[in-house]
Amino acid sequence: MIQAIIFDLDGVIVDTAHYHFIAWQRLARELGVNFTEHENEQLKGVSRMQSLEIILSLGKIRLSEKEKEDLADKKNQWFVEYIQAMKPDEIFPGVKELLKTIRSKGMKVALASSSKNADTVLTLLNIKDYFDTIVDGTMITHSKPDPEIFLLAANRLGMKPSECVVFEDAEAGVAAAVAAGMKCVGVGSVTQLGKANYIVNKTADFDLAKLQML
Ligand code: BG6
Ligand code: MG
Repeated sequence: MIQAIIFDLDGVIVDTAHYHFIAWQRLARELGVNFTEHENEQLKGVSRMQSLEIILSLGKIRLSEKEKEDLADKKNQWFVEYIQAMKPDEIFPGVKELLKTIRSKGMKVALASSSKNADTVLTLLNIKDYFDTIVDGTMITHSKPDPEIFLLAANRLGMKPSECVVFEDAEAGVAAAVAAGMKCVGVGSVTQLGKANYIVNKTADFDLAKLQML
């Protein structure tokens, strides 16, 4: 029986996925690498450094570790600048209500984001209190598609993987949920998220009555 829901952050709760994209695109442009929404799909859910590695490999660019760290820092500074103006009303429509309903049914709610900025984003949105536990990129060794982040979230909730459902917008995130032995609701397109158990266009479109049938 499903007793907990684990939410990804970027692209599931708020449109920070867009800010990640424009910051990476700005960096790619500086590097002379062609980088569109299409290539960006590979970056969703994966760590900052792995994202940079993907962009460098697209441009067949080889750099030293120090140069890579500087570029990753630069992208992060832009991302942090972009999100500073974010307001609590930028949370996707219906998501706060969904979180409240889940909790009112006695189920647990976790956040599991590969981002090291998750705490900042949740604070800007003023929604930290909606989660029983929060796991982010600062607490894990392997980012999605590795199942580590979801297994850690389940563990912190005191749940078995089979008792958890994950909401994800990234191909790597869906793969991580499946590898963790959890059911997954994909937020986005069937083309990208075909391995999810159920797909919705927007997070709040999911009908909780379907939860136990996934
Ligand atoms: C994930 C995003 O949530 O976090 C990725 O989907 C991002 O696009 C990753 O690269 C790491 O984020 P950050 O904030 O630590 O650079
Ligand atoms: Mg995401």
